[in-house]
Formats: sequence, C-alpha cells, structure tokens
Amino acid sequence: MSDKKVIDFILKIPIALFSKKIVSNLILEGFKDLNILYIKDNFVYLKMVLFFKGDYDFLETVNNKIVKLKSNWNRFYNYSLDELNLIEVIDIRLFDYEEYIGGYIELFSVGNFVFLPYSKKEIYKDEYVDKELIYLDPKFLAFGNERHPTTLSVLEIIYSLVIGDLKKDINKFIDLGNIDVVVDYGSGNGILSLVSKYFNPKLILAIEAIFSYTLEIKNNFKINNLVNSIVINAISPKIFSQKKSFKNSILLANIPFSVFKDLQDQLFTIDFGLFILSGIKEEFFDNFKDILKYYNLNLLKEIYNEGWYSFICYK
Ligand SMILES: C[S@@+](CC[C@H](N)C(=O)[O-])C[C@H]1O[C@@H](n2cnc3c(N)ncnc32)[C@H](O)[C@@H]1O
Repeated sequence: MSDKKVIDFILKIPIALFSKKIVSNLILEGFKDLNILYIKDNFVYLKMVLFFKGDYDFLETVNNKIVKLKSNWNRFYNYSLDELNLIEVIDIRLFDYEEYIGGYIELFSVGNFVFLPYSKKEIYKDEYVDKELIYLDPKFLAFGNERHPTTLSVLEIIYSLVIGDLKKDINKFIDLGNIDVVVDYGSGNGILSLVSKYFNPKLILAIEAIFSYTLEIKNNFKINNLVNSIVINAISPKIFSQKKSFKNSILLANIPFSVFKDLQDQLFTIDFGLFILSGIKEEFFDNFKDILKYYNLNLLKEIYNEGWYSFICYK
C-alpha cells in the first residue's frame, strides 16, 4: 500500500473573514477541492482536502498549516487574532490516496463521449465499443472532473460542433475541417482539450494557472494519447496574445467572470474564428454581455444551465 494519504476536513470560518484572498491563499498552500458546504450562524463551512506523504501525524499536519495561515492572515491582511482564533478544523478524516482518487469520479457521458476514471479502464473497455472513450485520472483533483454545469455546457457545444448539429450555423466563421489551434484557457484537468481532439486541430494549447493541475493535464493527455498538444502553466494569455490573428482557430475558456474581466483586453482583442466562453453566473450575465459588445463579439448562441451561462461568439 502506498504511503500517500489524503486528509479530508472542514474549515469553519467566521463569515466576516471569508474572502477571495483567504480562498486563494488556501489553494496556494496546497489545499484542494475547496467547496462551501453550507453557511450557518455566521460561519462558512468550507470542505477541502490535503495530500500528504510520509509518517507524520495527520492531525498535527493540518493544524500546523492552519496555525501558520492564521498568523499570515493576521500579519498580511490585518485580520484580528480574536476573529482568526474562531477558525476551527472539524470533521477531519484520513484516506488512502488510491482509495480516495479511485472513488473521486464516476462514469458520465455527453452525446457519444464517455468519460471514465482511468483506474476503471479495463472494466469498461469492452462495454462502450461504439463510443468515444475519454479517460480521466484525477491525480490532483483539478477542476473538470466533477460534472460542473459550465464544463458540461462546453462539452455539449463541442459535441454539437463535432457531430454537426451546430456545424451549419458556424461554417461562415470557421472551417471546422481545417482547424489550426484550439486554445483551452483555464484548462483545469484538460477535459475540454481532450474532446477538442475530435476537431482534428493541428495543435491544442492548454493554459492553466495552477501548477499541480498542469501535471494532471499532462497525464490526462498522455493516457488519452493526445500528442499534438502543449501544456503551459501561466496566469495570463500573454504567451499567445502577441499574435492577433488566429482566424481558423477556436478559443475555449471556462473561467469565472472575474478572470474574464481581468483578461478581457488580452483574450478578446485576438481574432479567433470562434469563441466558446463559459463560467458566467446569472448575476454577471448583463455585465458580461456588455464586455462582449465592447470587443465586437457577436453572439451566435447562449446556453443556460443551472444558474450558469455559456456563449458561442464570433467577430
Ligand atoms: C472553471 S475551471 C474550468 C476547468 C475546465 N476547463 C473545465 O471546463 O472544466 C477554471 C480553471 O481556470 C484556471 N484559471 C483561473 N484563473 C486563471 C488565469 N488567470 N489564467 C489561467 N488559468 C486560470 C483555474 O485554476 C481553473 O482550473
């Protein structure tokens, strides 16, 4: 049995302290799979996991990290120690890495695409002979494994483009039989890149801010034999935004509204043939449409899925 472990726990945080800074800081410190479970009596109950290796005491490992974070939040964000001391670790559980990762994703499908955990490859390989099998190995629990509505909407769009439902609406803007590059901006686990191979592009460029996620993307590309691909760890599209024309290329970006807002000038001044954009919560719908208008992006289709919007646009 491996000595890799996963600690799963809830951090109870006073609502007054809960902020984007705190969440980003937890992610940078290596906590993964953050989810707000509920908010009750002025506390946010934030579930998360931590991977670790070796013989350390797991309770001490988590507690030491949280103590260090509280001290940083006091020094750098000026949060009061009295308030910070209300933060508590609760419901802490230890899992074996293989056991945790093995149960992390379940098989799901979008059209003819069937997504399945790589660990179950042998079990399913004869069952879905007429489907396109896409393997996911959630090594670092990157975004894209959990059937989020924003991911599903983009997968559905790609499927419709590949099988042809949407093809006729699109062929004025892009030659789907001759795609140069698919840029998957904010790739998470690389799931959108994996299905982009059905566009038969010359190159797939996956860009992701979180380093451990890029390792998961690379591994997912390898197990799916996605050879014409490059994975880049970056927090801005500067790497490709010098080139202003990507006419027969597609931009896929499923990122939060705040990230679109920060990067709009780099992402939307490029001439992609098609922009498939997702990750917009209902409350930002109007603001996002204003941004699209400002950059002369025309709307071809918008999709609503459980409170989230996705868009297909062209210039
Ligand atoms: C909503 S997830 C989408 C993941 C995957 N593409 C999907 O559709 O499921 C957004 C991803 O963008 C990444 N991200 C956020 N800000 C970014 C930035 N400025 N540059 C690059 N990636 C970023 C996040 O780390 C996260 O993995």
